[in-house]
Amino acid sequence: MSADSEAWYDETARAWLLDLASTSYALALAANGTAVRHLHWGARLGRQAVAGLADAARSEPSDWERHRSWAAELPDEYTPWGGMRYDEPSLKVSYADGTRGVEWLYTGHQVTAQRGGTTLEVVLADEAYGLQVTLAYRIYQGFDVVERWARLTNAGSLPIRLRQVLSANWWLPMRDRWRLRYLHGGWGAETQVAETVLGPGKFVLESRRGTTSHQFSPWFTLDPGGTATEESGPVWSGELAWSGSWKLVSEVTSAGRLHVTGGWNDFDFSYELAPGEELTTPSFAALHTEGGFGAASREWHSWQRAHVIGHGDRTGVIGRPAWVARPQSRPRPGGRPPGGGGTAGPAVPPGLRPVLYNSWEATSFGVSQDGQERLAELAAEIGIECFVVDDGWFAGRQHDRAGLGDWTVDQAKFPRGLTPLIERVNGLGMRFGLWVEPEMVNPDSDLYRAHPDWVYHFANRSRTEQRNQLVLNLARPDVAEWVYRTIGGLLSQHNIQFVKWDMNRHFSEPGWPGAPVSDPERIWIDHVRNLYAILDALRADHPEADFESCSGGGGRADLGILSYVQQVWTSDNTDAWDRIKIQDGFCQAYSPSAMMAWVTDNPNWLTGRRLPLSFRFHSSMAGALGIGVDLTGWNAAERAEAAKLIATYKERRPVIQQGSLYRLARAADAPFAASEYLASDGSELVILSWWGPGQLESGPRRLCLAGLDPQAIFLDTSTGQRHHGSVLMQEGIGLPGTVGLDFGSSLIHLKREP
Ligand code: DGJ
Repeated sequence: MSADSEAWYDETARAWLLDLASTSYALALAANGTAVRHLHWGARLGRQAVAGLADAARSEPSDWERHRSWAAELPDEYTPWGGMRYDEPSLKVSYADGTRGVEWLYTGHQVTAQRGGTTLEVVLADEAYGLQVTLAYRIYQGFDVVERWARLTNAGSLPIRLRQVLSANWWLPMRDRWRLRYLHGGWGAETQVAETVLGPGKFVLESRRGTTSHQFSPWFTLDPGGTATEESGPVWSGELAWSGSWKLVSEVTSAGRLHVTGGWNDFDFSYELAPGEELTTPSFAALHTEGGFGAASREWHSWQRAHVIGHGDRTGVIGRPAWVARPQSRPRPGGRPPGGGGTAGPAVPPGLRPVLYNSWEATSFGVSQDGQERLAELAAEIGIECFVVDDGWFAGRQHDRAGLGDWTVDQAKFPRGLTPLIERVNGLGMRFGLWVEPEMVNPDSDLYRAHPDWVYHFANRSRTEQRNQLVLNLARPDVAEWVYRTIGGLLSQHNIQFVKWDMNRHFSEPGWPGAPVSDPERIWIDHVRNLYAILDALRADHPEADFESCSGGGGRADLGILSYVQQVWTSDNTDAWDRIKIQDGFCQAYSPSAMMAWVTDNPNWLTGRRLPLSFRFHSSMAGALGIGVDLTGWNAAERAEAAKLIATYKERRPVIQQGSLYRLARAADAPFAASEYLASDGSELVILSWWGPGQLESGPRRLCLAGLDPQAIFLDTSTGQRHHGSVLMQEGIGLPGTVGLDFGSSLIHLKREP
């Protein structure tokens, strides 16, 4: 079922019903208006059911029930610390007179229609102190995603110290043995899927690193009883839009009820909200489906493409710092579609990611005008659409021990600047892209010599270096403005149509001695808000440029950064077999269109593994295709094969990047994996499959497809064979004869017959 999404208020019951595409979410006021309580999140609910639910939820616990503590647990939609509440709070504050508890009173609500959606805002106030919270719920036409955030306003006359501010508290239905699926990993092994069954108590996922991290991703999926499969069963899933330190707490209360709350990490956190000041939390989106893990991912993917990726600030989290000059041109309402425009280079169909070349694995720091031109010529021959010069192009950057912070072109490597290379790249029919790492500085740089106080540090403590670099204090308005102007200058002076924005270390000694604020711990928030503001302003000033988020591989991939970039560098591990698992995890949460995947050299630099060229391509074709090989090392036959595979990818790209992803087999279960990408109108599909070592015992010979019209006939465009939809789904399709060899792969394209 798919109906219109709308927000409805039942005045008598004082309850709100959010009807989504095929699910409902409901909440109500507590009897005395002192809280907003959760009523329902799951299958569609009729309006007549809301009043009864609200009545049942409204009763306050008796004294005896409070004594039995568990009976007193009430599902607050946004739990303030105050009164007899012992769960993880959404909000904890200290007022100037020493009072530390919050008492709310409902003051009103409003429903606003936006393009493609509706926002409900419920306002509560702690009137004695002038603190106000606006709980926002945004729903989207045609989707089951509810996006929530909170806006805090100090309408009083004294500062209010915030000690913990999360974005939303999600209550799950009363079921048992919830299975939590989450993503963990490390550098070179991001987004590995893990699962655990939740017992009583808390399970915390977090980053304390100042960025999203390689270790955990702010995403979860829950299914009761661990019964959901890839294509069936009830699943609830959430993801947080934040690229700094975050936490997600899954708590099974003593009453046996599960709730998940999340937002800014409260570790080393304090934020003074000045009179008149407003603070908006990151959004925390979530969805419910009865269609298993696959349907949850597909919903995330299509919602992200329609409303998130490259769309800019939707909720006001940036807070518009004064130092960003008002950009000349704002992004179009609804955002600039991924794919970018451009004043040179090939016309990539709207909404699609160009096939790019990146120089990093080929030339490392050893870039030069001639060397890059030669690579560009070879790249153009095989069909590359965007040529990106990675690290090594700027002054002092012979290695990773110097240069970061000095963003001027190395005159020895590029005697006439970057323009001749850019012109050559454009002349070859490609866009030009450049790598930067603007939040970092090497101590061996002119920037650090001039401004040693611009990095995070504590007095009387060492400055811990990693990769010989320190983190610039982007919470400082002068530093943030410098970054904006410096990178903006590069974009103004050159025809740059793609920026790879890297960040190769996590925070340490996050201090700001002499900070003009009384709460230097707010750097955790201000750094990221300023980063978003810089990206937002750069994109508005330079609409011709697309951005990629990178953090030593996939250390900064989340819903927050995806609003400001078009794609993410998935991992520095470019081994095409390892990538199958990394990409499987990435696509649980994020759209394949945002997943940059390069074909790289043999043997792989990290694992030493050798893989067939076709395997490496088929692995990278699962997302946004890139090439990272040293093209001067390929012979004519390899170049011809690559050109053919790139041409095939371009033909299949709309389905891969914008279709629905079905995980037919996962490498987590066997040394065999397969993904189906189905066009939204069901007219064509692409099946990519990959098999690893030892798959003879466990790899399937036939692959059952999903999501097809059983009545339709599909033509295999390579073999000319015709298949019935019902047969493809029930009996499967035979895989090519190379199954049985280690590290084989295939791409099958089927087209529905008219
Ligand atoms: C880390 C990135 O993940 C790599 O792709 C590359 O850009 C290097 N940094 C450059 O220093």
